[in-house]
Amino acid sequence: MTEPRKKVTIPTLFKKAADGVPITWLTCYDYPTAYLMEQAGIDMILVGDSLGMTMLGYETTLPVTMDDMIRHSQAVRRGTPNIFVVGDMPYMSYQPSVETAIRNAGRFMAEAGCDAIKLEGGVEMCDRIEGIVKAGIPAIGHLGLTPQSVSLLGGYKVQGKGALQAKKIVDSAKALENAGAFMILLEMVPDRVCKLITERAENCLIMSLGSGPHAHGQLLIYHDMFGLYPRFKPRMAKVFGNAGEVILNGLKSYVQEVTEKTFPQPENWFGMKDEEYEELLDLLG
Ligand code: KIV
Repeated sequence: MTEPRKKVTIPTLFKKAADGVPITWLTCYDYPTAYLMEQAGIDMILVGDSLGMTMLGYETTLPVTMDDMIRHSQAVRRGTPNIFVVGDMPYMSYQPSVETAIRNAGRFMAEAGCDAIKLEGGVEMCDRIEGIVKAGIPAIGHLGLTPQSVSLLGGYKVQGKGALQAKKIVDSAKALENAGAFMILLEMVPDRVCKLITERAENCLIMSLGSGPHAHGQLLIYHDMFGLYPRFKPRMAKVFGNAGEVILNGLKSYVQEVTEKTFPQPENWFGMKDEEYEELLDLLG
């Protein structure tokens, strides 16, 4: 018999890093997928505001609201009692002020049972991180390609390829760590910059999304991993199984079988006893 899973906590994550075992982190937005991730032994889930694109079909993450995020985080929490669930703070849920940031971070914890929150930005967001951590909420920073600033960044591009921009990311990582972030996600940052930041981190875990192998762990977007996002496939997204193709083939078979009247078969419907049917006909005259 397999051992029941233990709840993943911040000390569990630091222990993995200390033992040199990479942390596994995936996006997830719904109950059935969270249930599967629980069985698969994933360490962390990000209920990302990427759900605006992958689940709701928006062009960017910007239209996503706190209520969208809470609804999806609750569904994920119901599917996984043990994975460390991170609520992703959507656009304008933390930018306006420290107080707004604390209130909305608190909603993820109180209403959805999340274990931590993540927000995008560097030095300029340190006061938000500090306020949230002071309120007793574990906080994760996000540097490099930060999708909520896609317009400012000029598109979904690698960040920190030049020395000056890379220095800014290295400095921001240290500032976020000093502000109290226990983890920082580096998205689409060159591998050597990620390595430098990981080596310099003292009390902070560094996670990579397309930023190479030297971090304490890896994050991927679930929909990219399984061929479920039709608009584009970023380079860092290895396809681990083409569920999109499996589902499409299943849908085509359904259309064919219904059209050809080979579905449904007796095992797919419910009958009634002859005497009940006779009585029904009598009742109907
Ligand atoms: O929303 C999300 O899934 C994210 C990832 C792109 C890191 O923030």
